[in-house]
Amino acid sequence: MFGKNPPDLTLIARARAGQGTGADYLYTYLRTYYRDEAKATGWNNLAFPNVGMPHVLWELQGERQPIYAEREEHGHTVEYFTGKWKQIKPGTMTPLQFDQAVGDLVNYLQWMGEPAQNTRLRVGVWVLLFLLCFTLIAWRLNASFWKDVK
Ligand code: HEM
Repeated sequence: MFGKNPPDLTLIARARAGQGTGADYLYTYLRTYYRDEAKATGWNNLAFPNVGMPHVLWELQGERQPIYAEREEHGHTVEYFTGKWKQIKPGTMTPLQFDQAVGDLVNYLQWMGEPAQNTRLRVGVWVLLFLLCFTLIAWRLNASFWKDVK
């Protein structure tokens, strides 16, 4: 598609996990599309520059343009993203609704990367508690077995 292979989304949250879960990146990525007529798809992305995927959720989010500003850095003027957006065309959702919908979508992508994660964490707590109790028992048992050996 557009010269790029679409990734396997069942694993994308894990594939993009740096220090965290990958969810933060995906949440930003799906919310930072903007119009760029120089691109074949007509879209570009702040989190993934020159991305091969168009903005598939554009009807919900509408069209936005990032607001840049300039500052001096080591004697050069550099452009930076101010963190603000200009809404060019409204979407069918408000910005808050869109953020919540993307949040749900990303939670789903993360769950799909490892559906057993919640169970694993829950069972893990019991395993650690069992090991703690068993260590106490083993310690006292050992003391009692060796009690009469001088
Ligand atoms: C709601 C539906 C979709 C979601 C949640 C989604 C999500 C994603 C994500 C998370 C990535 C990976 C970004 C990365 O590697 O950092 C990606 C890449 C990509 N997606 Fe989608 N996608 C969707 C629909 C589509 C559709 C409909 C198309 C085709 C028209 C498409 C085409 C692509 C392509 C070509 C890439 C690779 C981009 C590149 O490597 O430059 N996606 N998508």
